Amino acid sequence: MTVKAQLAERALGVETFLSGCLRDRSVPERLLSAMEYSLLAGGKRLRPVLTLSWAGMLGPGDADFADAIMPFAAALECIHTYSLIHDDLPAMDDDDLRRGRPSNHKQFDEATAILAGDGLLTEAFGLMSVASMAGGLPANHVLRAISVMAAAAGAGGMVGGQAVDMEFTGRTGVPLEELKEMHAMKTGALITAACECGAILAGAGETDVENAREFGRAVGVAFQIVDDVLDVVGDTATLGKPAGSDEAMGKATYPSLVGLDRSKELAAGYVGTALERLAPYTGGDREFLSGLARYIVDRVN
Ligand code: IPE
Ligand code: IPE
Ligand code: MG
Ligand code: MG
Ligand code: MG
Repeated sequence: MTVKAQLAERALGVETFLSGCLRDRSVPERLLSAMEYSLLAGGKRLRPVLTLSWAGMLGPGDADFADAIMPFAAALECIHTYSLIHDDLPAMDDDDLRRGRPSNHKQFDEATAILAGDGLLTEAFGLMSVASMAGGLPANHVLRAISVMAAAAGAGGMVGGQAVDMEFTGRTGVPLEELKEMHAMKTGALITAACECGAILAGAGETDVENAREFGRAVGVAFQIVDDVLDVVGDTATLGKPAGSDEAMGKATYPSLVGLDRSKELAAGYVGTALERLAPYTGGDREFLSGLARYIVDRVN
């Protein structure tokens, strides 16, 4: 099976969980529709799959354990989806297409899109805590993982990176080191935490947690560099979001700063760094994670 097919198969498990996870609350109908509209619109489900795969590689590896991790993994997709809804708003990237459909604020309205994002972010923390309460994972592991996720999603992580992205918009000559730090925050932080939390929830030792974190850090920066490259070379239909949006908005990106070829070289270099962190491990999830790291630079959407 190709890595893409394996990713799709694992994503399906996440999808199934996500499709039921907002249903047992009294959420107002329009808000629920808006939350599910974006959450269930497809997407690669990369972040939850990273959590499941690191946990699978380092933990017991049986089906019960995978079921116990699932709410936590799915929570990452809620946080990611909220970040996409807000990222597309007119006040931010002002994009009208996401995951092949009109953006949330286009399908609904801006207030609903803002609230759908708020709702998804908050639900995520409920789902993470459920992993201990209903899933039976040790409370100390879950608490540590929640604190890692909060740091990654918040003002010192993804939200902070998005703030720097807005500051850099329209500016030329942003130093490469600062661009890298912005990528590490806005996109790398969640991907890093996805891997790290998989290791933590598996009850792994500190060396393994560090390997997971450093793998995620390298893959996370590579992922956003490739996202920037695809914005230039990709087409809207394949991407499911508007190609050329970065240039139109005057975004600081790797291609705008160092060109396409150098951007691709740098992304490949980070993937190499990530792969080194898999050296100590064996088994199916190791093979999948190494394939996934490579797929991140070869992907077309
Ligand atoms: C897009 O993320 C936004 C970035 C952080 C680069 P993905 O490329 O993972 O988007 P989906 O989830 O597959 O739609
Ligand atoms: C977004 O980066 C990162 C997020 C935290 C959502 P982009 O603005 O490049 O993501 P896309 O290209 O709109 O998916
Ligand atoms: Mg953006
Ligand atoms: Mg955007
Ligand atoms: Mg982009």
